[in-house]
Amino acid sequence: MAIADDPFIFEACEPLIRGGKRLRPMLFIMCANSKVDCPPEKTMPLATALELIHTASLVHDDIIDTSKKRRGVETANSKYGAQIAVLVGDYLFAKAFQLVAENNYSSEVQMILSKLVKNLCVGEIMQDRSLFEVPTLNEYYTRINLKTAIFLSSCCRLGAGVAEMDRREVDNLTAYGSGLGLAFQIIDDLLDFFGDEKITGKPHGGDLKSGVITLPVIRALEISDEASTLRKIVTTGGNVDAAIKIIQATDAVDYCRTRAEAHIESARINLPLTLKTSVALALEQVADFIVDRTR
Ligand code: IPE
Ligand code: IPE
Ligand code: MG
Ligand code: MG
Repeated sequence: MAIADDPFIFEACEPLIRGGKRLRPMLFIMCANSKVDCPPEKTMPLATALELIHTASLVHDDIIDTSKKRRGVETANSKYGAQIAVLVGDYLFAKAFQLVAENNYSSEVQMILSKLVKNLCVGEIMQDRSLFEVPTLNEYYTRINLKTAIFLSSCCRLGAGVAEMDRREVDNLTAYGSGLGLAFQIIDDLLDFFGDEKITGKPHGGDLKSGVITLPVIRALEISDEASTLRKIVTTGGNVDAAIKIIQATDAVDYCRTRAEAHIESARINLPLTLKTSVALALEQVADFIVDRTR
């Protein structure tokens, strides 16, 4: 499938689409194959649509976060400006829904996709409306559930649907995806502080600079002797390196990892026992990857 006939749109989308971990389509395809082998004609269009929706959300996210790098290349926002980047994101969303319509996926599939995009937007809007404010633990969880966990759980739910699983199995795989998603965003939030840009392909320290206050900060504020200095930095957009030092002097990193591991454990527990062994093993490996990942 060519992403675009128009050479400019192709040039704007292609470098971004080439990269990325492809976690969402991978989860969908694994779940779709969890009972019997599923023909690629049944999965590939929807798998592609999921990755396009995710990429579209990243293009828009990079405008919101004024981020310069994504997947190791310059962001659309940095390269072409916000006007074009908004439209590139819209284009990718539209392309995804075109694929879904062309391949006659059910109205239930369309509903799951529409809801996940709506939830992602609500999560991002919620975050953007409270920049430089310290969220409660509950607020943080609401946000990461909406912007990330629902997407991952939807990929699993869609796969379970293709595999024609029963209600209970669908719910369990969905819960697996949800645990994965919460852990995934907690680790992403840690990587924003401590990740290696050459490996993650995106700048670090960006969350604090743009006023997004995440779990390592919430924890450090709870227990640090220097909590008032840290609070001042994070609520005024002060020195990120000084904030990192204060966070590092606490147990915040271990705390975040422990929480992520707990979500992964609950994901694992929810894996139905009725899955094909090869798929069950692969889904276990995905769970391990999420806490250990550096990218
Ligand atoms: C980035 O997602 C956005 C988050 C939800 C944290 P990924 O880390 O899956 O991004 P790519 O697809 O690998 O670039
Ligand atoms: C996830 O949050 C973004 C989306 C759900 C689109 P982040 O803002 O943390 O994602 P990155 O770190 O920019 O990839
Ligand atoms: Mg971002
Ligand atoms: Mg991030």
